[in-house]
Parts: sequence; C-alpha cells; structure tokens
Amino acid sequence: MSERGNYEAIRKSILELLDQPEYDDGSVGPVLVRLAWHSAGTYDAETDTGGSNGAGMRYEAEGGDPANAGLQHARVFLEPVKAAHPWVTYSDLWTLAGCVAIEAMGGPKINWLPGRTDFVDDSKLPPRGRLPDGAKGVDHVRNVFTRMGFNDQEIVALSGAHNLGRCHTDRSGFEGKWVHSPTRFSNQYFRLLTRLEWKPKKLNNGVLQFVHVDEDLDEGLMMLPTDMALLSDPGFKEWVLLYADDKAAFYADFANAFAKLMELGIQRDAQGKVVNSDNLKGGYHS
Ligand code: HEM
Repeated sequence: MSERGNYEAIRKSILELLDQPEYDDGSVGPVLVRLAWHSAGTYDAETDTGGSNGAGMRYEAEGGDPANAGLQHARVFLEPVKAAHPWVTYSDLWTLAGCVAIEAMGGPKINWLPGRTDFVDDSKLPPRGRLPDGAKGVDHVRNVFTRMGFNDQEIVALSGAHNLGRCHTDRSGFEGKWVHSPTRFSNQYFRLLTRLEWKPKKLNNGVLQFVHVDEDLDEGLMMLPTDMALLSDPGFKEWVLLYADDKAAFYADFANAFAKLMELGIQRDAQGKVVNSDNLKGGYHS
C-alpha cells in the first residue's frame, strides 16, 4: 500500500532526528522552528506574495537572503525525511517539522494542515528584505508583522519562540541564547525579559545586543534589540507582561498565531483542500 498522505509517518521521521547531541544545545528542533517561520514569514498580505508555498528557500534568490543564513543546516537535517517519503512536498515538510519540533520540545499542539506545493510561481516570489532585522526597533517589528497580517498580541506571542535556540555569530552576527534551557518550550523568555536587567553590549564584530550576566551560573543570556523593543512599546508590553505571568495564555495564543503563520498565502476550500497549489499558472516544478 502506498504511504502517500501518511503524515503520521513524516511526523515520526522528524521526531527521530530531533535529538543530536553534537549540534548546538543537543537538539535540531530550534533551527527547524526557524526554518518553518522563515519559509512563511516572507508573506505580504496586500499583494498575496511570499509565504511557505513553493519552498523558495531551495533557490538562491530566497535561500541566499542574509536573513536566512544558517537555515541550510535545517534543510540538510530534513533531507533524509524527504528521501524516505519522496511524496511529501518540501513546503509541507518544512512547516510540519517546525510544528513537530515545537510540540516535541514541550510546546503546545499546533494545528497544521497539509497541501502546500513545491511549484514555484514566479509572480509570487518575495523580494529579499521581508524578514525582520534584529538590530531594529518597534516600528520595524510592527511594520513587518502587520504586513503579514498579525496584530500586536500575535506579534508578541510569536516572539516567544525565542525561548528556543540561540544566535550564532557566523549566521546573524548576534551571539548567545535567550534562556537557560533553549530546547524546552516555555514562557521563560517573557519572564527573563521582564525580570532581569539587560545592558547593551557591543560585540567584537560591532553588533549591538543586550546581555545579562548571571554570576551564579556564569552564563550570559542575551536579547536582540527587537526583543527589547517589545518592552518599550505599550501596545507590545501589555502582552509581554501577561505572557510572563500566564503560561497557559501564552501557549494558547502562540499555538493560534503559529498555525496562522504556517497558513499564510495558502487558500483552502471548505473541506480544507488547498486551492492555490497544483493549478498555479506560470509556475515551474522542481
Ligand atoms: C533565532 C531574529 C522572530 C524563531 C533568531 C536569530 C535572530 C532572530 C537574529 C539568530 C539566528 C542565528 O544567528 O542563528 C528575529 C527577529 C524577529 C524574530 C528580528 C522578529 C522581530 C521570530 C519568530 C519566530 C522565531 C516569529 C518563530 C515563531 C526563532 C528561533 C531561533 C531564532 C527558534 C533559534 C534558531 C536556532 O537556534 O538556530 N531570530 N526573530 N523568531 N528565531 Fe527569531
């Protein structure tokens, strides 16, 4: 019997590759979450361009965007899954891998639906520069996410993903992790953001970030300027304070916002079938 359409088999294959003791903090989960987010976060609601359909990061125009530096590792980690289940599209695989990783690291269940295409529609290709720049401030963060169709509450909920993973000097120029346990999903990011004292620090490469040096643990934690921006704007801050105190509210809002992120640019009929997939005009197939 053909395995086609058995997404449980894909989930299982993804789960099996998450733990990798040699990689970063022992899990490839965080970089898979970032791959899923960057595949979708190019979306522009006004022109209906960008988004996860087409898995454009396979190609230089999008894959070579400096904002996507390092995500080739995530894509390579997923190649054995694609090889074992060749029927799955890359766009479904990358988005599902992010959701599976979040759940496996203790996060909420994300309502993920299949049906994305690997057809690349030239008229839907996003220009570079649509993903957020960590060195910037409140207006930039709000503009980028409003363009995708998110409100302040959703922006802050999504930002809670920085509970996971770390920055790498050779990828973004920033360095370090946001929380002590970067492979366990929780609301620790919001608690640390509100409760610790953060000081600006210029790294040797000239990049400015914010640091807290925990003397007991002898372990420095970091925040991006865009993370600090969530504290300096009242519309963002009210949600930061809520999520720092209410883990259940954060989990529920994050699950909704991440599911919405994964669906950007995907049009479905009443049965949930994608209607803008294999009938794309002017597209080409990998
Ligand atoms: C990592 C920026 C929003 C998930 C990073 C890194 C930067 C960054 C600079 C470090 C990359 C590296 O050096 O490897 C931003 C900015 C955002 C934003 C400026 C918005 C203003 C998000 C959102 C999500 C997310 C919405 C998911 C919902 C992640 C994850 C990592 C990460 C999981 C860790 C990756 C790893 O460990 O390799 N982000 N991000 N980020 N980001 Fe974001």
